[in-house]
Amino acid sequence: MITIPYLTALTTYFSYGLLFAFGQFRDFFRKIFDWWHASNLQGYAPICLGLEDFYIRRLYLRIQDCFGRPICSPPDAWFDVVERVSNDNNKTLKRTTNVSRCLNLGSYNYLGFAASDEYCTPRVIESLKKYSASTCSARVDGGTTSIHMELEECVANFVGKPASIVTGMGYVTNSAILPVLIGKGGLIISDSLNHNSIVNGARGSGATIRVFQHNTPSHLEKVLREHIAEGQPRTHRPWKKIIVIVEGIYSMEGELCQLPEIVAICKKYKVYVYLDEAHSIGAVGKTGRGVCELLGVDTADVDIMMGTFTKSFGSCGGYIAGSKELIEYLKYTCPAHLYATSISPPAAQQIISAIQVILGEDGSSRGAQKLARIRENSNFFRSELQKMGFEVLGDNDSPVMPIMLYNPAKIPAFSRECLKQNVAVVTVAFPATPLLLARARICISASHSREDLNKALEVISRVGDLIGIKYFPAEPQKQQLEENRVKLE
Ligand SMILES: *[C@@H]1O[C@H](CO)[C@@H](O)[C@H](O)[C@H]1NC(C)=O
Ligand SMILES: *[C@@H]1O[C@H](CO)[C@@H](O)[C@H](O)[C@H]1NC(C)=O
Repeated sequence: MITIPYLTALTTYFSYGLLFAFGQFRDFFRKIFDWWHASNLQGYAPICLGLEDFYIRRLYLRIQDCFGRPICSPPDAWFDVVERVSNDNNKTLKRTTNVSRCLNLGSYNYLGFAASDEYCTPRVIESLKKYSASTCSARVDGGTTSIHMELEECVANFVGKPASIVTGMGYVTNSAILPVLIGKGGLIISDSLNHNSIVNGARGSGATIRVFQHNTPSHLEKVLREHIAEGQPRTHRPWKKIIVIVEGIYSMEGELCQLPEIVAICKKYKVYVYLDEAHSIGAVGKTGRGVCELLGVDTADVDIMMGTFTKSFGSCGGYIAGSKELIEYLKYTCPAHLYATSISPPAAQQIISAIQVILGEDGSSRGAQKLARIRENSNFFRSELQKMGFEVLGDNDSPVMPIMLYNPAKIPAFSRECLKQNVAVVTVAFPATPLLLARARICISASHSREDLNKALEVISRVGDLIGIKYFPAEPQKQQLEENRVKLE
């Protein structure tokens, strides 16, 4: 639940209203212009949306320099951001040969494996030489190498499940596997803030989809009871199966899942739990095994464990871990296994090596140090931001921490001012968040030193004062203000 001050809500609506009115005004002239040139299409329908992409043209393009900034180095604690210039008010941006060295607060490089690593990199290079960059084949054809077999064993072992299947892309892991797991006559109960890959996978499955209030076990139970009692629409037959889908860490909120409560409810009603650990596997838990380890949930109680390798492991792809029976079934049916080219062998090797480091199998304690570091760094950074008066979402131990910006004008202001002072941040707004709730999303890494974090805090504090996003007074008397706020979902 996010609360937003009345005045902020008002000014934010006003800003969007202004942008909208101005955009409509310009579109009006464009329509006249288009009408004039209508013959240009020669009877074809416009292939792009014509006037429908209002949001992109009239809002997003105004600040597009804040998004998709090219970089030209590994996404380590510091990285090189390519400078761009524009001769047409940022409508088009041209890359220059200049770069600026910036502190990286945007990448999901939780454990610092995104950079060259003394243990992983030589092994990855070796696998590149031995197996080449691509298998040029799907897993069931010629695309299974011994690295792929080793990876699946290694991942199953790491997350604490009997077996696993890996795919070449994290997004596809959700969007291609859900339609195989469940279909017509099934019921998916999904957290309201689940990732787009889950939403699309669920829609593609043809199952009935119901949403429960974000991270609210009591509402989940209510929705479950109602739908179990009612059964399938019209026929009222019992559901073929029911899957509850939640995430370990919600990447736009920085929140940890209320997993113990949710698992208890799912057990009570005998429904399956699908846990997406894209942001939590490798990043939290004493030995990096994700939210189950952190929150003390037995992995035997989570039926389908999904995760990606694109964050903590510094690679690409995703996995599903579960019972032997489930994984075997997926290997016969999942399109990402049958038809998609298998994960690149060097990328697979990177994951294996990163897991070995995390588990200390490389013979050093670097893995344990990284895990301790990400936790300390995250908790330090979060508490300092809160002390300064920023509105920071999420829970302790989560390396993702959104800073609320709200007002659309503050999105580019925050991003540009930070970049000017060599701190690169990611800002997110509608449609990734609700319209009112634009935010900057900070991702902390184990590779950040305390000095880096202090620099970042200094810059963010300065910029925060400049653009007025310290919505709370610094440190004390926070409580009083909470009463004057509008409640939003
Ligand atoms: C274009 O982008 C730059 C930063 O990249 C910013 O300083 C400038 O204000 C922008 N111009 C317009 C017209 O939005
Ligand atoms: C690159 O940076 C230098 C020094 O800051 C500046 O003089 C030059 O104009 C920049 N080049 C471009 C293409 O922006």
